[in-house]
Amino acid sequence: MSSLLLTGIGHLTTNDGDPVRDAVVAIDEGLITYAGPAADAPETEGREVLDCGGRAVIPGFVDAHTHLVFAGDRSDEFRRKMAGEGYQEIARSGGGIQATVRATRAASEEELLDLATERVRRMIATGTTTVEIKSGYGLDTETELRLLRVARRVGEELGITVRTTFLGAHTVAPDLTRERYVELLVDEMIPAAAGLADYCDVFVEKGVFSVDEARHILHAASEHGMKARIHAEQLTRSGGAALAAEIGAVSADHLDHATPDDAAALAEAGVAAVLCPGASYMLRGSQAPGPMLWDAGCTVAITTDCNPGTSFFESMAPIVSLAVVQTGLTVEQAIWAATRGGALALELPDRGLVTEGGVGDLVVLDAPDPAHIPYRPATDLTWRVIRSGSVVDGES
Ligand code: NIG
Ligand code: FE
Repeated sequence: MSSLLLTGIGHLTTNDGDPVRDAVVAIDEGLITYAGPAADAPETEGREVLDCGGRAVIPGFVDAHTHLVFAGDRSDEFRRKMAGEGYQEIARSGGGIQATVRATRAASEEELLDLATERVRRMIATGTTTVEIKSGYGLDTETELRLLRVARRVGEELGITVRTTFLGAHTVAPDLTRERYVELLVDEMIPAAAGLADYCDVFVEKGVFSVDEARHILHAASEHGMKARIHAEQLTRSGGAALAAEIGAVSADHLDHATPDDAAALAEAGVAAVLCPGASYMLRGSQAPGPMLWDAGCTVAITTDCNPGTSFFESMAPIVSLAVVQTGLTVEQAIWAATRGGALALELPDRGLVTEGGVGDLVVLDAPDPAHIPYRPATDLTWRVIRSGSVVDGES
């Protein structure tokens, strides 16, 4: 593996103290061996040199919540929602998640792999270097496993770290009662998913899964080695955040309706608060109380939530902008949440920071300051993406 030296960095976000001006980063064998002032930089000899010409450098984005393996799209529903129909109203009439389940069940593993690969390729091209991928559009054992296999294969084919999450409990499968489906999840689907998923997630929401059902499902998952994540307080106050704190989940996600008590409980239990500002925006919904969660001491991450129903974002840059402008995080908090926060939410402590020993995943921005990301939300400011010390050529 090569040695890379990035020189001429005008502004380096390390996520470990103040930004460094006129900085250099050295990456050897995929790991950062130096990050700091140019004056103390190691020799250039024997290394490939990339002169950043005064540009800003940040850690690669860590997108800690996506549902990117699916077929079809829901542009028709988007049109209806914007004309006034409700998200849950559409779901009750057979649309929503169930519409994507029908399209996804009908797609082969290779078709799903092609679709997912194209999405992740676009993510990498805009600076994402680590991604979490949930299943959840199969709702039967065979299709859920297909989605998890696709998620793993995308990572292998594109050389990007993928963390997988089993979200069979996305909604109740068509033609089954909720009791029967919860039983199927616990007795058959969770044991089958165990080797393919790092985590198990449940959509805790009025009319979807209750707190008690989620507790039961996540307990079964933990017996099969999968830690918990919870879709919590997204559309209404569901009690999912309190459950996440109670069971020591890795994350509580969305949190648009979280209260100060929820924030305190999550912080106390060390549960990451994973926000999805794209979904709040696309649903014209409530904003997660980002500053309140941050001030309560939660590890805050921001993510695309990439999915065909509520947040078809494939790039983290506009999410950073939404997190600042709509959610109310500061520029520095939002960039931290999109990088270091995501890494911590995925239990990857050597990602999302630019310090010695960290994984050499970086984005060189075509801008002098990372504030340009939220400030120029419609411009792709990705100049170069570096993954494990190699410059991504856009073709991989
Ligand atoms: O994160 N909340 C549940 N899941 C997705 C939406 C899924 C869909 O509408 O297809 C979300 O918003
Ligand atoms: Fe989600």
